[in-house]
Amino acid sequence: MIDVVTIGSNEEEILYKQAATVADIDERIVRLTQEMIDSLVVHKGIGLAGPQVNEQLRLFVTHAQGDIPRVFINPEIIMTSNDLVPYEEGCLSVPGIYADVMRPEEIQIQAWNEKGKPFTLDATGILARVIQHEYDHLRGKLFIDRLNEKKRERLLKQYARKNGQ
Ligand code: NI
Repeated sequence: MIDVVTIGSNEEEILYKQAATVADIDERIVRLTQEMIDSLVVHKGIGLAGPQVNEQLRLFVTHAQGDIPRVFINPEIIMTSNDLVPYEEGCLSVPGIYADVMRPEEIQIQAWNEKGKPFTLDATGILARVIQHEYDHLRGKLFIDRLNEKKRERLLKQYARKNGQ
């Protein structure tokens, strides 16, 4: 089982870094993404990005309700709709903290899957939401960074209190 890096932990720095392009979709990447998908079940999450499992790589996995497990390697969001909608988000790296975040309702993304095959996906609803959240992780951004400063500070205090920091 892979551990998830949380904010305030010794490894937290990787959560704030840019992830690097995956050069080769080899056996290690296939195994890693499979382990990440398996981890979602254990951690009761719907998405997990490379930096969250201490891998500074541009990849993430999703398993949204009513959807199949998906692997996105070297993803690029190539279209977002103009309409922003609120949706409550949480993150395995910020356990116990939830907040409404505004994001585009629909997106189009290009990526490679674990078989090394490129694909384009149109997503809406919860899938579009989790994809955008995970995509942010590859740029060193957490969902709380998308809130106004006051709200963000309040949630960070709440998190620190919960974790005895
Ligand atoms: Ni997250």
